[in-house]
Amino acid sequence: MTIEGKSLEHFYGREQVLKGVDVTIRPGEFVAIIGESGSGKTTLLSILSTLLHPTHGEVRYEGKGLDALGNIDTFRRRKIGFVFQFHYLIGYLTLRENIALAALAEYADQIDPLMERLGIERLGGRYSDEVSGGERQRAAIARALINRPRVVFADEPTGNLDTKNALGVYELFAQFSQEGTAFVVASHDKKITEFADTIIEMEDGVVKKVITR
Ligand SMILES: Nc1ncnc2c1ncn2[C@@H]1O[C@H](COP(=O)(O)OP(=O)(O)O)[C@@H](O)[C@H]1O
Ligand SMILES: [Mg+2]
Repeated sequence: MTIEGKSLEHFYGREQVLKGVDVTIRPGEFVAIIGESGSGKTTLLSILSTLLHPTHGEVRYEGKGLDALGNIDTFRRRKIGFVFQFHYLIGYLTLRENIALAALAEYADQIDPLMERLGIERLGGRYSDEVSGGERQRAAIARALINRPRVVFADEPTGNLDTKNALGVYELFAQFSQEGTAFVVASHDKKITEFADTIIEMEDGVVKKVITR
């Protein structure tokens, strides 16, 4: 699924925080959006992922504007995965139940294989406060991947992780992207650039540099 952001501008009140951004995300591409705090990464990611409507400009999925995608809730549920800095797992449910809650019926039999792939198969019966930060985030990633989305958007997914766990997350994103899921990841961690196919560097609301490998 090709995703395009065209001439994106965004204002919060009178403050302009995106000042004309054009980006294209190709199927299966691992894109890292990097830049200093306040440069506009979260705003850009939120717009590209359909969560925030830009003040000017538009987002297209496979050439279609968001109005032409049909029911936006269904589109998000089937095509898009979300990962945030905080895991947002439900504390009353086990890790496995959290993933099962998100799973569409046709992917219910994929829960265990996916947990195994993410190395959390033995933790299915535990609650989020009974596992490590890295394990919690891998459960959140499993929840994002369970319905085989075409793209996963992640905002500072390693913000609460140590280096070893952070590198593990980037490695997972790189592996799944090779199987066709695109990843668009906002991060101020420069280490992500060693794993991504494309690096978009933001500075003060504009794209300062794009590096494609
Ligand atoms: N909801 C909001 N209301 C007002 N200003 C905001 C809001 N969200 C972000 N900003 C401002 O927009 C700018 C860009 O923020 P953001 O997109 O979160 O950047 P980053 O993720 O790179 O830190 C910052 O100056 C921030 O203070
Ligand atoms: Mg941010």
